[in-house]
Amino acid sequence: MASSSLRVVSIFMLCFALFLATAEAQLSPNATNNATRDYRYITWQDLDFGIEATRDTDGQGTRVIYVAKNGHGHSTTVQGAVDMVPENNNERVKIVIFAGTYNERVYIPSNKPYISFIGNPNYPTVITNSTKASDVDPRDPRRELGTSRTATVEVEGDYFAATGITIQNTVVANGQLGAQAVALRLAGENAFLYNTRILGSQDTLLDDRGKHYFYKCYIEGLVDFICGEAQSLFQDCVLNSTAKSSGGIAAHHREKNDSTGFSFVNCTITGTGSIYLGRAWGPYSRTVYSHCHIDGIINPVGWSDWNQPERQKTVFFAEAQNRGRGSWSRRRVPYAKRLNPSQAQPFLDINFVDGEQWLRLDENTSPQFNCLCC
Ligand SMILES: *[C@@H]1O[C@H](CO)[C@@H](O)[C@H](O)[C@H]1NC(C)=O
Ligand SMILES: *[C@@H]1O[C@H](CO)[C@@H](O)[C@H](O)[C@H]1NC(C)=O
Ligand SMILES: *[C@@H]1O[C@H](CO)[C@@H](O)[C@H](O)[C@H]1NC(C)=O
Ligand SMILES: *[C@@H]1O[C@H](CO)[C@@H](O)[C@H](O)[C@H]1NC(C)=O
Ligand SMILES: *[C@@H]1O[C@H](CO)[C@@H](O)[C@H](O)[C@H]1NC(C)=O
Ligand SMILES: *[C@@H]1O[C@H](CO)[C@@H](O)[C@H](O)[C@H]1NC(C)=O
Repeated sequence: MASSSLRVVSIFMLCFALFLATAEAQLSPNATNNATRDYRYITWQDLDFGIEATRDTDGQGTRVIYVAKNGHGHSTTVQGAVDMVPENNNERVKIVIFAGTYNERVYIPSNKPYISFIGNPNYPTVITNSTKASDVDPRDPRRELGTSRTATVEVEGDYFAATGITIQNTVVANGQLGAQAVALRLAGENAFLYNTRILGSQDTLLDDRGKHYFYKCYIEGLVDFICGEAQSLFQDCVLNSTAKSSGGIAAHHREKNDSTGFSFVNCTITGTGSIYLGRAWGPYSRTVYSHCHIDGIINPVGWSDWNQPERQKTVFFAEAQNRGRGSWSRRRVPYAKRLNPSQAQPFLDINFVDGEQWLRLDENTSPQFNCLCC
């Protein structure tokens, strides 16, 4: 090891020791103020965590809050860290979550935008819970919670970004009613998730509303495991079906002919089946698969109108240049569309989610995680 990098290491160790020694210290609400940065764009830097980091910042002027189960961070829970973010914050806060399993539910309210969740990609960092739709509503014991309130992690803040973490709901749907159990509910206007794992069974990812970009993510579930009203691009993702008989991968919800929809590009679709590529939740449900590798787990008819035949006229279910045994079949439902390259073009990149308005991702970089002590 070169002496300069040794010096960097020892400085970092020193910083880290200081950080540990003052673990319970209170943070000022605005630890840093980097006025040169335009926070209305999500960048790779928002997912970086490096050796310059100190007790309160990432070394680049962005505030960091550490979560460590062993008590050596600012919080032992992820929610505790979210609670330390000031309301109506106007700059990014990185919540760096050290490896471990966090048995909790996490809520980011709409008045806390610009939050990053950063886990160490080399060790499992899991946020897990097991809440399901039929659970009793604590606010009103006569009622059930309902699907949208079951999420292990629920994000209503805008400009959320995440990497290196697993978000899980461990409830398994066995055909019983009320087993909807969301791992992640995303309802912020914009969000970027990179190298994030989202695990569940029924309704794993409630991609509720907003424009979202999922890049190199892993999503696992049994039925309708990517659902909601959002306008989202899923690129280079793995979708792993645990289906045993029926159900859909995607259940996009669209009530009118607006810009929302799910677009899957260059994804790997694997697991067990048979399963539909998508089901029509709402008359204008819109889902497109392009350039994907699709294993032979797809019901050959491909798509379901959710037993509402009139929806066949208004849904937009399309496929373009996929490969694998589950790709286009002559048995597809007649309302499924096969797009040519120019018809597929609007669905292929971040323009589908108006990314030029909120993403600045240099294609040649990916986030660095250089945490020597975790
Ligand atoms: C933090 O920044 C916001 C926005 O600039 C400001 O409104 C707030 O007063 C600041 N809080 C403190 C404690 O400086
Ligand atoms: C502000 O952010 C830029 C990059 O976004 C960084 O290069 C710079 O060092 C930061 N300035 C301060 C004072 O932290
Ligand atoms: C679920 O989250 C709640 C609230 O954060 C926590 O009290 C409970 O222990 C968690 N349960 C499991 C099974 O993770
Ligand atoms: C497709 O995804 C794979 C990883 O799943 C990646 O290696 C490859 O570069 C991607 N292809 C394109 C054209 O982006
Ligand atoms: C899909 O999920 C099953 C069940 O969790 C698991 O055993 C399998 O390894 C997963 N496949 C991939 C490609 O990750
Ligand atoms: C939805 O709108 C698009 C573009 O305006 C149009 O081409 C398409 O026919 C409409 N679809 C339905 C089902 O009305």
